[in-house]
Amino acid sequence: MQNSSEVIPEILVFAGSTRKASLNKYLLKNAVPFIEEAGGRVTLIDLRDYSMPLYDEDLEADSGIPSKAMEIRKLMEAHHGVMIACPEYNNSIPGVLKNMIDWVSRPLPGEPPLVAFRNKTAALLAATPGKMGGLLVLSSIRAILGSLGMIVIPKQYGLGNAKSSFDEDGRLTNEIAQKHVTDVAQQLVEVTKRLIQTDLL
Ligand code: FNR
Repeated sequence: MQNSSEVIPEILVFAGSTRKASLNKYLLKNAVPFIEEAGGRVTLIDLRDYSMPLYDEDLEADSGIPSKAMEIRKLMEAHHGVMIACPEYNNSIPGVLKNMIDWVSRPLPGEPPLVAFRNKTAALLAATPGKMGGLLVLSSIRAILGSLGMIVIPKQYGLGNAKSSFDEDGRLTNEIAQKHVTDVAQQLVEVTKRLIQTDLL
């Protein structure tokens, strides 16, 4: 078991949207200091920088896993957990995120399966302009990541009416939302720390 003073959860943070003015990117950026205040260390990436082809088994057989998918895979392997803020598209997960997950889930010869996912923690956020806050996409992602062996923490948060929840600098002005995001960040860091301490991660 590791000493608690040396435990710093490494958290990879990204949104399931590539667009520049993404509400989910705004929400995620607001979560970063909460993770850090709780004792985690954050790596923030933008899926816009990790463009990859649509998953195709023939393409994989011919050319292997695309370089950008390998980069994310290595990042996930090097972190204890992830925080994802994701839009809801047609009541479910956007293709850009599912496509990335599909590529990253592919096994490499000689490796145990799902090394980028198994026994790593995950926290989920969503933001939508509508009032439901993406509750359905939160359930979709929870089911997918859980099935890949991730430990998805119980707390999650869907921000509804997101367009009116940030100021012009992208700061979350809604205090109730701030409290929810803080709670999610704290639970992510706490659960991840405990799992590291018991050598489960
Ligand atoms: C949407 N949007 C949407 N919103 C929602 O609450 N439930 C939904 O099912 C959908 N479906 C949907 C499908 C498609 C194809 C698009 C493009 C949009 C609206 C969506 O929440 C909105 O565009 C968000 O602003 C997208 O998130 P980002 O890019 O701002 O992070």
